[in-house]
Formats: sequence, C-alpha cells, structure tokens
Amino acid sequence: MTPNNYILVTANSATAVLTGTFHFLRLLQTHQDISALDITSRPRIRHRILAHWDNLDGSIERGYAGRSLWNWDELPNKIDARYHDYARACASIGINGTCLNNVNANAKSLTTEYLEKTAALADVFRPYGIRVYLSLAFSAPIRLGGSDTSDPRDPAVAAWWKQKVDEIYRLIPDFGGFQVKANSEGQPGPQDYGANHDDGANILADALAPYGGMLLWRAFVYDTSVDADRAKCANKEFVPLDGKFRSNVLVQTKNSPIDFQPREPFHPLFGAMKQTPLALELQITQEYLGQSKHLVYLGGMWKEILDSDTYAKGPGSTVARIVDGSLYDHSISCIIGVANTGSDRNWCGHHFSQANWYAFGRLAWDYGLSAEAIADEWIRMTWSNDPRVLDAIKTMMLGSWEACINYMTPLGLHHMMREHHHYGPDPGFNAAPRPDWNNVYYHRADAKGIGFDRSSAGSNAVSQYHSPLREQFDDINTCSEKFLLWFHHVPWDHRLQSGRTLWEELRHRYDVGIAFVEQMRNLWQSLQARLDPERHAHVSRRLEQQLENARLWREVCIKYFGRFELSK
Ligand code: GCU
Repeated sequence: MTPNNYILVTANSATAVLTGTFHFLRLLQTHQDISALDITSRPRIRHRILAHWDNLDGSIERGYAGRSLWNWDELPNKIDARYHDYARACASIGINGTCLNNVNANAKSLTTEYLEKTAALADVFRPYGIRVYLSLAFSAPIRLGGSDTSDPRDPAVAAWWKQKVDEIYRLIPDFGGFQVKANSEGQPGPQDYGANHDDGANILADALAPYGGMLLWRAFVYDTSVDADRAKCANKEFVPLDGKFRSNVLVQTKNSPIDFQPREPFHPLFGAMKQTPLALELQITQEYLGQSKHLVYLGGMWKEILDSDTYAKGPGSTVARIVDGSLYDHSISCIIGVANTGSDRNWCGHHFSQANWYAFGRLAWDYGLSAEAIADEWIRMTWSNDPRVLDAIKTMMLGSWEACINYMTPLGLHHMMREHHHYGPDPGFNAAPRPDWNNVYYHRADAKGIGFDRSSAGSNAVSQYHSPLREQFDDINTCSEKFLLWFHHVPWDHRLQSGRTLWEELRHRYDVGIAFVEQMRNLWQSLQARLDPERHAHVSRRLEQQLENARLWREVCIKYFGRFELSK
C-alpha cells in the first residue's frame, strides 16, 4: 500500500478519534477534495456545553421545539433511542458537555432517585465524549437535607454539599460539575444570608475539586438597588470579587449586558475580570429572535461578540481570547449555549434553527471559522450541494440576523418584546412591577428623542468599557450606529451617516428588514423543485409567518414612536 492509498484519522484519545472521524465525514458530505489531507485540529475552548432549560415535568423554559428530550418518568430503566441520536449529533460538532436541567433549578434533581436517572443518561453520553452537568438550587440543603439554612459559611452546609457531591461521583465518575443561578430573578443564593457570590461558589467548588469538577456561577444578576441601569449591575457586583474565587470556578457571563437581545454590545465583564476565568453563555434558542418561527441564523451574531475587542490589554484583547483563557493565561475555558432542542421530529422546531445548534458547536470548537463557512457546511449537509441551492440559502441565512434586528429593534433599541413570552412587539409596555421589566424603561421615547442615555452624561455605563471604546461609545458622533440608541438618547431630527434623520432612518430600517424577509421568501420559493416537498413546505409556512410578524413589528413600532416624533 502506498501512502496515498489510505486515510488515517488519529488523535490523543478515543473521543478525539471520533471527532476526527466526524470531521472526515463532513469533508465527504460537503464534497471536499480528500486526495491530500493533512489536517490537525484542536478545540480552542475546552468545555463546550449545551445548557438545557428543561424542567423535570417535561416542559422547557424558553423551549420552542416540543417537550424535553429527557423522559424522567421512564429513566433510568427505559433509554430512548433519541438519547443516542442527540449525543451523536452533539459529538459530531464537538460539543463535550450537556447540562440537563433548567437554571431555575428544582432541588429534586439532586435526590438519589433523580441522580440515578441522570447517571443513566451519563452512561449513554459517555461513549460520545459528553459529560453531564446539573443546575442546582442553592437552597437544596434546606429542601432536601432538612437543614434550616443554606448559608455557605455554615460548616454543616459545606458538609452537606460535600456529601452530595461524593454521592454524585459514586454514580457518575466523570460528572462535569454544576451550573448555578443564584440571587437572580428570585432564585435563592448566598446573599440571602449576607454572604456573597464567592462564598457561595467556593463551598461548591471545594466539594467538586477533588474530582476535577467545575463550577459555573452565573453573572446574570440585576438588582437595581445596585444600579438603576440594569446593564451595569453585574460588573458592580462581580468585579470587586475578582481573585476571590477558587480555581475551578468560572463566572458564566451572557454575551451581553441585558439579556440575549437581537443585538447588544458585548458584556463589559469581559475584560473587567482578569483573575477569574469567564465562561461565555450564548442563547441558541432565539427567545427574543422569533423563537422557532423565524429563520434567523446566529453565526454572525456570535462572531460579532467573539471578535469584539475589549482593549483590556490593548488592541487584540478580544472576547474570544478572554473566553479561551489565552489573554489572562487561564487553563480552564468554557462556552455554553442555551439549547434549542426538543421532542419535535426536526429537533429544533424550525428546520433552520438546527443551523444555530450546528454553528454553536462549530464556533465553540474553532471561533476562527467564519459564519459563512459554517453556513456553507451546514447547507451542504442538510439541504444540498447543488450550487443554486447553496447560493440561495446562504444569502438567506447570512442576511437573516441583520434583517431581524432591523424589523424588531434597529439602531441599538432593545427589549421591546411582549411581556413573559417575548414574542412580538410591545414598545409601550409599562405595567410591570419593576421599572426594568418595562419596555419603556429601555427605549425612553419622548418628544425629544429616543434611546437610553448610557453616556457619561447619563448612566455612564460607557465607563465599564476600556478606552478607546469607552470614548467611542460616549460620543454620539463616534458611537457605532448599531449601538446608537443603546448608549444615547438621540433627538428625532439627528442626522445619521445616511443623511436621513433618526426618525427617517428608523422607518427605513423597518422597511429594509421586511424587504429582506420578502427576499428570503422569494428565494425559498425558487428552490421548490430542488428540495424535498415536506421540508420545503414547512419552511415556506414559517417564512410566511415571519413576514407577517415583521410587518406587524413595523406597524406597531412606527405607530407607537410616531406619536412622540409628531409631538416634538
Ligand atoms: C431570561 C429568560 C428567563 C431565564 C433567564 C436566565 O430572563 O427570559 O427565562 O430564566 O433569562 O437566563 O436566567
């Protein structure tokens, strides 16, 4: 046999050989030249986790693709074939962890009964190189242990956690660790006892450390007694704690300071905590981006975040380099995506939502890949290698995120979705029990203009960014227009780069967004003869709905904001 007659896939572990084999299959499926392969690949981020916001009753918080994949009632005895399919799909894109339950956690998931069920899932996932993680309720010692406190400074509480963690590792020797939402949106936490995030995180980290387990402590906190601008709260709580966390703790930070909006600037915690590794949390499930009804490819959004320069250590201090640990020399690194999978036969509700699951895995493995390259792979493997199909779908996918921003929240607007379910427009909403749960809190439209003044003359959120970003954001004339209304309250007649006034530009953006959805619908129609009828029809129906919704967004928002503009 000459060297040219064989293909060798090799790696430093069995799991890595599996990953390499999937990569080879991808080359075949995407019709790449395999005559002279010489590929070396290693993940840029060590822990690449899907976070399932699944409840034990089978419902999914912010899930839009049916019920939970985990059938807790049947586990551990019955192993659904889909658990294997799920693990194989994850492994094929490099995902190596899965956190099974909702961040708003039910303490019951830590009972022996449920740990045995979790262990059965871990057994299925192990051969695919996927470790299991759990979200925990900080009050578990009270709820399950009969204790009257979960004060992290109480030695009995630490002992309870140690015992619980010992039990978990007896059942699941490669258990990954915990994800914790504490003192956030009503969840219990150390602050209930006058202790702080580091106290809470560290007792759990100490229990996990002997086993190599990792603790993901979420920074999604926005106690407005800390600061009246919600966007500033996390930094104010967490930056003073830098250096106080154990080495197996990662502070898990959403990509952006408010909440997975169609577009926000990157979270200023990136670049502000130097001694603490930060895990990047992305949301695959499109809670605020049309859920499983709208075709919105998120590859570009995540690239924008990962490529953002924080300037924390001068130019080149990108979010990606903070997350992968290289900027501050951390050996532990993690990216975690809120999953969009469910019991629907097509996994994600919308056939195109699968692309976001795929893109998450591929970017987690190598954030250097472009959104376009990832879309190219996915289209070839999911739809067709036919160039006409490829070109049309690529155009649709690559323009879809910007279109969604335009028809929902252009120019830095944010949080204008309907209360609770976050689907559809409601810019005038002002009836929530706290100010920052109202939409008017975010856009602040009045006769003078629109937008949240976070400049140095306003809430001064700009000060949480490093120079020169801070100054760029601070000045209405240098602030990127994509974040204009995020950082500034802008007069209606302010002129933008296009020469249009703000009010004209706003209307223009809504029109552009809708026009792109029309284009997507037309491109999709042109592919009818080239795609299988069932999936084609399914996506067609979704696109019609998306178009209708986009028009509604324009109608509602222009009518609502027009009232202020006209009264000026
Ligand atoms: C959003 C979302 C909640 C979720 C929360 C979180 O606010 O709407 O459902 O619990 O984020 O990330 O904790």
